[in-house]
Amino acid sequence: MDLAQEKKSFLSKFKEADSQDSLNSLKIQYLGKKGILSSLMSQLSNAPAEKKPELGKSINKFKSLIEESISSSLEKIEQSALNEQLSNEAIDVTLPLSPDVGSYHPISLIANEISNYFKNKGYVLREGPEIESEYFNFSALNIPENHPARDMHDTFYFDNGNLLRTHTSPVQIRSMELESPPLKILCPGKVFRCDSDQTHTPMFHQVEGLVVDKDINFAHLKNEILEFIESFFKDNPKVRFRPSYFPFTEPSVEVDIKGENGWLEIMGCGMVHPNVLKNVGLSPEVYSGFAFGMGIERMTMLRYQISDIRMLFENDLRFVIKG
Ligand code: DAH
Repeated sequence: MDLAQEKKSFLSKFKEADSQDSLNSLKIQYLGKKGILSSLMSQLSNAPAEKKPELGKSINKFKSLIEESISSSLEKIEQSALNEQLSNEAIDVTLPLSPDVGSYHPISLIANEISNYFKNKGYVLREGPEIESEYFNFSALNIPENHPARDMHDTFYFDNGNLLRTHTSPVQIRSMELESPPLKILCPGKVFRCDSDQTHTPMFHQVEGLVVDKDINFAHLKNEILEFIESFFKDNPKVRFRPSYFPFTEPSVEVDIKGENGWLEIMGCGMVHPNVLKNVGLSPEVYSGFAFGMGIERMTMLRYQISDIRMLFENDLRFVIKG
């Protein structure tokens, strides 16, 4: 075996080897137990003593040449395979989300629709805190302590006497304390009651409307509500104003629409009670107003024909992904 010859033949085979497989088999062919290198080594033992050191060195050099060239080629191939994989799997996190991946939850859709409707009618949006004092949630709304009307609300209380607001009506009081008439406000928001069944969840949403000015009368209220119903329920349902009781309005009514299975209550409303006006320092002799309040879940269920309110809170993706 001629070392120079073997080297030449290795280099030409190495040039051809362009895959992991061919490089690995070249490695076995040269460096394996029965490979060319070990044959060269066994030749070394038969060489004349004076040539041994020189020959040994050359064989070792050849061995390193084989090892280094094969391993650097393998490394290059692995690196380029990795680069290719990375570029194939690359995710551009700056790309905008496809607009049809998600959509608003039905409750948000309806809350926005109602808010926009009233905004277009000149109402301004007002918000209040979800943790309220008894004063704003009850007393100022003409619901004194120990009055049975407080039992209408299953209230979550904090140890310090504050509570989770049971309705959005306290925002009426806060707004009337801060701004003077003419007032035309709409307050959507979360409310809380200790109640849970097919039609009640401990947290739900209400939207409250309040108009206060001189000479506001029941006809204004009735017209406002009828126009709203006509716009919200496209099929023009029959509407009924049913006498009712709320401590903060007098007279008070509940509004029903005629559904397939009879009358459905959709909101409460009435003329702002003189005591409420007095509580915020307005004279009932000069000012009058109307207020209305409705449950957003109820309106959502009617719009989308959802029969169990709890479905709205179970994180069912079909509610938030556009089909
Ligand atoms: N606050 C009432 C409730 O939660 C709803 C309501 C009824 C609001 C009549 C009003 C109103 O503003 O006039 O049951």
